[in-house]
Amino acid sequence: MNQLIPLLNRHSTPAKALIDPAPDDAQLKRILQIAMSAPDHGRIHPYRFITIRGDARYELSEVFGKAVSKRDPDVSEVTLKKQQDKPLRSPLIVVVVASLIESEKIPKIEQMLCAGAAAHNILLASNAMGFGSIWLTGDNAYDNSVFEALGLATNEKIIGFIYLGTEKIKLDHPQEALPDDKIFDWKSPVG
Ligand SMILES: Cc1cc2nc3c(=O)[nH]c(=O)nc-3n(C[C@H](O)[C@H](O)[C@H](O)COP(=O)(O)O)c2cc1C
Repeated sequence: MNQLIPLLNRHSTPAKALIDPAPDDAQLKRILQIAMSAPDHGRIHPYRFITIRGDARYELSEVFGKAVSKRDPDVSEVTLKKQQDKPLRSPLIVVVVASLIESEKIPKIEQMLCAGAAAHNILLASNAMGFGSIWLTGDNAYDNSVFEALGLATNEKIIGFIYLGTEKIKLDHPQEALPDDKIFDWKSPVG
């Protein structure tokens, strides 16, 4: 079942171990098209993607710096620099944004799950294409000043920052085990 190998081998790569080249425009388009094949109640596509690369990463670095300084006016130089360095670790960042609609039929939790599934498809697709990736959040993913700088509307949330690039070194990633206590073969006690 060779087709399943990319699924079994899906793994994260530390953001600082992701280097150029990142997926090019055509590859990124393909990855985001695969993201959009996520299961989606009502086919409403309750998400969008913001791509950040090149010099825009320095602008995001400033945004992260301002955000942490606002969260903690007494932030240490070390913490400030750590936040500012985050977007500079990898050549490409895809911010997955959930764009939630009011619907009686499709609860917001389902829309968030759909956006999460789209984010996961980015990880799967990028690995299958030979790129490394990692899904990160942290305080910046829940910070209003980051939302504002990225142009999020009031109905939008950040699902994650997905860092992408080429893996600096190929690490050995063991495949997940399937523990017995994760599976329960239910039968009705009534019979
Ligand atoms: C919603 C979400 C948010 C995450 N945020 C972080 C994070 O901020 N920092 C972190 O180190 N890992 C975070 N992770 C976990 C990594 O993406 C990754 O899954 C983890 O390092 C395990 O590696 P693996 O994917 O190879 O199993 C997050 C995962 C998810 C699903």
